[in-house]
Amino acid sequence: MQRPNRAHSTGSFYLSLLAIACLGMSSLIALGQASKSANGQNAEQRADALLKLMTLEEKIGQLNQAAGFPRPGAPPADEQVRKGLAGSVLWVSQPAAINRLQRISVEESRLHIPLLMGLDVVAGYHTIFPPPLAMSASWDPKLVERAQTIAAREARAAGINWTFAPMVDIARDARWGRMVEGAGEDPYLGAAMAKAQVMGFQGPQLGTPDHVLACVKHFAAYGAADGGRDYDSSYVPDDLLWNVYFPPFKAAIDAGVGSLMSAYMDLNDVPAAGNYFLLNDVLRKTWHFQGFVVSDAMAVGSLVIHGFARDREDAAYMAFHAGVNMDMASYSYLNELPKLVKSGRISETQIDAMVRPLLVTKFKLGLFENAYIDESKISGVLNDPASTQSAREAAQRTMVLLKNEAQLLPLDKSGKKYPSIAVIGPVADSGPAQVGFWGGMITGGKDVVTVIEGIRQRVGSAVRVEYAKGPSIRREIPSTFEGLPGILLHDEPPQSPDEAQAAFQQVVETAKRCDVAVLVLGENALMAGEAASNSSLRLAGRQQELMEAVVATGKPVVLVLINGRPLDILWAAEHVGAILEAWEPGTQGGHAVADVLFGEVNPGGKLTITWPRSAGQEPIYYAHNITHAPETAPEFKSRYQDLKSTPLYPFGYGLSYTKFSISDLKMSSTSAKIGDSIGVSVDVQNTGSVAGDEVVQLYIHQQSGSASRPVRQLKGFERVWLTAGAKTTLHFTLGKDELTYWSPALKTWVLEPAVFDVWVGEDSTAKLHANFEVTQ
Ligand code: NOJ
Repeated sequence: MQRPNRAHSTGSFYLSLLAIACLGMSSLIALGQASKSANGQNAEQRADALLKLMTLEEKIGQLNQAAGFPRPGAPPADEQVRKGLAGSVLWVSQPAAINRLQRISVEESRLHIPLLMGLDVVAGYHTIFPPPLAMSASWDPKLVERAQTIAAREARAAGINWTFAPMVDIARDARWGRMVEGAGEDPYLGAAMAKAQVMGFQGPQLGTPDHVLACVKHFAAYGAADGGRDYDSSYVPDDLLWNVYFPPFKAAIDAGVGSLMSAYMDLNDVPAAGNYFLLNDVLRKTWHFQGFVVSDAMAVGSLVIHGFARDREDAAYMAFHAGVNMDMASYSYLNELPKLVKSGRISETQIDAMVRPLLVTKFKLGLFENAYIDESKISGVLNDPASTQSAREAAQRTMVLLKNEAQLLPLDKSGKKYPSIAVIGPVADSGPAQVGFWGGMITGGKDVVTVIEGIRQRVGSAVRVEYAKGPSIRREIPSTFEGLPGILLHDEPPQSPDEAQAAFQQVVETAKRCDVAVLVLGENALMAGEAASNSSLRLAGRQQELMEAVVATGKPVVLVLINGRPLDILWAAEHVGAILEAWEPGTQGGHAVADVLFGEVNPGGKLTITWPRSAGQEPIYYAHNITHAPETAPEFKSRYQDLKSTPLYPFGYGLSYTKFSISDLKMSSTSAKIGDSIGVSVDVQNTGSVAGDEVVQLYIHQQSGSASRPVRQLKGFERVWLTAGAKTTLHFTLGKDELTYWSPALKTWVLEPAVFDVWVGEDSTAKLHANFEVTQ
């Protein structure tokens, strides 16, 4: 039963105020105004009124985010909340616990200010969708928006009002474990996905019912960590910041994102949590961001570890001065800001300026009117069949068919061609692997339709399905997360060599007994995500050996990958008949994989990362510079001498069960004045025999200018569905936004007179070409 929120039940509320002896009459009036419903007063006015009532301690409390789990040296979250010393709590995901904390804050703290309850709802709360990297492979921003709308609805019903998402870090090195959380390597696609996610989480404006506050992260260039090692320093020139790493953040801000998280690492030797350039010059001065900034977890305190701040007090000063409003769980603000105000290094007016956007956000979210959730209604929201169906459709649309020799796929489900199927591999029946790190952190990987279940349900009794797991896979170094209290994700228990060998043998025998093998290989939930970087991309454990043994049986082999990043599948690309990239396909993933394997759904996803031949090619991305020694040069070439220069699969690549032809590239004009737009049109036809989706992509290259420009840059895309034989014309526009870039030579945005190449096609190697000239 929902209990009344005292902050808006005016009668008893004012009575309770009388008991607050330390408040004068003017303060009482101000608090009444601050806490009444928004009639007549906007969130800013209400925040100002409330600020007037707050003690310094309470203000600083709002800047503190308490950990929802025990932290050494920190008082329990309830205690902080009760004293008004926490504006937010993170990592409490259970509705009853959330309601309890909100009650303490609203009913027991002096000023009755509700809490921001923050959680990493990255790929869903209960219904887990594929993670952002997979969702970006759908090239379908509407789908992404719908998925995050569902995630927001579920989270809000459970009491979470703030998600630490979207993560929009550009990632160009698959060794970095967090590639899975972002939309891949490209700023243009990344910006589209960032906007879609913000719209999904927040709705058209903050405070839209059934939505949450979004938090774009991690500002900035976290994905450029040296060597792909999570948390390591990033060294990124201004050119790449403005042209590559910033655009998705800018898109999120333009879409109205209410909060932003600073990153962990040093950016060009200045830690992101104390980086005045990022948080002040770029974010607030240039982009006019009006929301608030939260640090990453413990990052304010870590400024000391970086060797940047002298001590905790200095760390609090540096982060505050740079523009971090809220300290996530390092307690440096709570403990040190009072001293800094006392010593005069920080003024109370500055504190007010940092607290204000937090209070404004709480008012806008409607928390003062509705802090609690009705626990009796949650299950209805979480178990909405429409959400389940959406998760299945999303997974279907994210899958990328990497190889399909001799039309091995789709498989026949009648049992005529293959009376038996061997489903093999350590992640063929793994809920956690399918929901990945953040999905697993919230759900533990429960209520998942695994690949083996999906296949069994799809073929029924028509096909004999045998399953053999093979040796299990484990991280080489245990995840730090496993040691934290309340963590639902755990690695597989260790196996003795004998147990592993017996499991291996069972796989080979199962494959021999069956007519076709579906190998389900990849990563478990703790192998991709935070603190999960690898020096190599090889298949973990004995999976490579297992694959080779299954191929050696001579049976046709389909490889299904469940993973969060490209892996080294060079051998598979040569020896296995078909490869389907299924990513971490979420709670309905098993159905979606079966839908694609058996041809109910024609795969249409395309890669949003360049797939390397081996880790030695990393970082690898399609939008590299031509250099003075390109591959096409007669003599010297910028390449490795022991490996092909091309990736295994290019950015934008993905096959289908049908064929498409893209033709008739037309430009509205072959020249344009600076600032004018050029129209581009192209015909696309399904020339195969089944309906399917094609993602038509447009790339440009500026041939000369004040700086070298990438060999190609994505500047338009559209996913279209066409029945067999159908044809359509697509239109794109190349205008100021597409042709402008930040010039490192001129240190400003430029649109330069130059000849531009245009290619349109099915991936980043598209051949259909035209050009136009931009003139003064
Ligand atoms: C650390 C991660 O870097 C960040 O992405 C996450 O939001 C916070 N922890 C809170 O879980």
